[in-house]
Amino acid sequence: MRIGFLGTGEITAAMVRGLKGQGHRILVSPRNATVAATLAAEVPEVAIAPNEDLVANSDVVFLCLLARVAEEVLPGLPFRTGQSIISVMVDAPLATLRRLCAPATDIAITIPLPPITSGGCPLPVYPASPALDALFGAHNLILPQLSEAALNAHLGASALCSPILDQLLTAVDWLASHTDNPAAAEAYIAAMIRGYLPERAAAGDLSQALKKLSTEGGLNATLRAAMAPAKETLHHGLTAFHSRLGLDDPKGRT
Ligand SMILES: NC(=O)c1ccc[n+]([C@@H]2O[C@H](COP(=O)([O-])OP(=O)(O)OC[C@H]3O[C@@H](n4cnc5c(N)ncnc54)[C@H](OP(=O)(O)O)[C@@H]3O)[C@@H](O)[C@H]2O)c1
Repeated sequence: MRIGFLGTGEITAAMVRGLKGQGHRILVSPRNATVAATLAAEVPEVAIAPNEDLVANSDVVFLCLLARVAEEVLPGLPFRTGQSIISVMVDAPLATLRRLCAPATDIAITIPLPPITSGGCPLPVYPASPALDALFGAHNLILPQLSEAALNAHLGASALCSPILDQLLTAVDWLASHTDNPAAAEAYIAAMIRGYLPERAAAGDLSQALKKLSTEGGLNATLRAAMAPAKETLHHGLTAFHSRLGLDDPKGRT
């Protein structure tokens, strides 16, 4: 497949590395110059092309710009009907993308995360995108959504990664302060948490795991009780996204 990435930054680098060795022809835009040069040197399928040429010569175009940059860059590029556009941009709703990428109509939004490089990345998408399925479906978890609001709710939930990692690092520091071995502390915490997370969880898997960690008076239950205010704080933080993500209907349906 002929694939183009508009905006060659962190998330493009992760996706391009995830597509390496699969026989695609990949064009990346010249900015960021360092990232583009690194990818071209590292991935044999990658070439650097000006934005116009990239759009004209790709069957699938990934939009990986900052949304405010997209408003300036996308109008005037030679999008066409029959071309698949997949946006990963935050704050660029479908209505805006349809305006900026006309006359293309096959436009979807997804939420890749940097671990997409090695596969196993959840990819919520709206509307369904056969192109995304074909490119990333074999090694990642494609999660089609029923509405743009449901997709946006996943965007809000994806922000959980940062505070959770922050908490894990707090525990790593505490552990290392007692062992004098920060590397081993980090290895322990990462492996321990990973062990509780199935790659493809079914409904109830997480609550089942939590139940097993709830012995009254045990260390787990004691620490969870001490951290109960964090649960309320998390709920408050997610709720604060509602207006930005168009989630005023609490069930995420519009
Ligand atoms: N990073 C993530 O984990 C992640 C995950 C999901 C979604 N996203 C979304 O993906 C988008 C990109 O995020 P990112 O983290 O990859 O940001 P980034 O590293 O800043 O990448 C954006 C890229 O756009 C380039 N650019 C600026 N003007 C351009 C132009 N006129 N033509 C072509 N490229 C241009 C920038 O180049 P210069 O450096 O030269 O300015 C930069 O390389 C954002 O909308 C973000 O919300 C990111």
